Parts: sequence; C-alpha cells; structure tokens
Amino acid sequence: MKSVKDYIRTIVDFPHEGILFRDVTTLFSDPRGFRMAVDQMLHPYAGMQIDKVVGLEARGFILGGAIAHQLTLGFVPIRKKGKLPGATLSESYTLEYGEAVMEIHDDAIQPGEKILLVDDLLATGGTAEAGIKLIERMGGEIVGCSFIVDLPELGGRKKLEELGMGVDVLCEFEGL
Ligand code: PRP
Ligand code: MG
Repeated sequence: MKSVKDYIRTIVDFPHEGILFRDVTTLFSDPRGFRMAVDQMLHPYAGMQIDKVVGLEARGFILGGAIAHQLTLGFVPIRKKGKLPGATLSESYTLEYGEAVMEIHDDAIQPGEKILLVDDLLATGGTAEAGIKLIERMGGEIVGCSFIVDLPELGGRKKLEELGMGVDVLCEFEGL
C-alpha cells in the first residue's frame, strides 16, 4: 500500500535552481492519499480536548478545514498580511529573502482555548513560529502542531520543540 509520502511529488529547480520542491498537490488530489493524510494527522489527537483548529495560509487551510470538520470543531485562519477584514494581531517572520507578516483576527481565539495548529510543511519553522506567537498572544493553549512534511535539515522541528511545542509530522524528506 502507498504511504502518504509516496503521493508527494518532487519538482526539481522550483522556485529556484537547485531547490527540490515537495509538492503536496498530488497528495491532495488523490482521494485515498488525502483521506490517509487527514486521518493520520488526526490520530495523535484522538480523544483529546481541543476547542479550535488553526490553519496557516494557504496550504494549511486545506488540511485544517478537513481536520476541523472531522472533529466537529471551528476553524480559524491565520492569513498573510492585509487579507483579513476585521481587527487583527500581526507577527512578522523571516523568509529566504526579507520579511513577511501573518495576521489573525483579534477575537478569533478566547483565553484558555485549546488549539491544534496545522500546516502542510515544516521547513525553517518561521511560518509556524509566527502562528504560535499569535495564538499564544491571544491566550490560546496549543495542544499540538501537525504537519504532513518535515524537512529536518532546515531545523524547524527543533525550533518549535524548543518553544515547548509538541510536533507531529507524517514524513520527512532529506535533500533541499
Ligand atoms: C510554505 C509551506 C509552509 C511554509 C514552511 O508556505 O506551506 O507554510 O512555507 O516554511 P518555513 O517553515 O520555512 O516557514 P508558503 O509560504 O510557500 O506559502 P503557501 O502555503 O501560501 O503556498
Ligand atoms: Mg504555507
């Protein structure tokens, strides 16, 4: 039987020469692959008390929406700057070149709510760290951070664990 990792396509030289891009669209487009990924992401959290699922734009929305629906929970988006219409909190994070900003509605999480944070891929961990900061500034308690892919050479998992996070990944890819 195919594993989740087997459904992920590698595109050579995207977005730059020398980069191996781990493309989850081939996993999402396969009915068995997508269900397997969502089921496996949920598995460590079965029976746990969770109040909301938070997903990171953009690919974290696809997974976070499916996971929230499966758990009958609400879904909260963390979006790139300027997309959310209401009052927001912001956190900047470092990209390969320069800085970017993530935002959350300032009334989307209540203090003490238990949050599952979801994205497709963990590389440097900068995006997830911005999400963690936003959730914690609002008083949310993160019960776990769930990803399909970890790229261990970029150190994101270590960074999140040093912040005290529980991190779950379904597979790892070596080589950038
Ligand atoms: C990718 C990926 C993660 C993030 C991981 O998103 O989907 O969100 O990068 O990188 P990091 O751990 O180094 O922060 P990207 O910013 O390319 O945008 P998208 O999800 O909107 O396509
Ligand atoms: Mg992303």
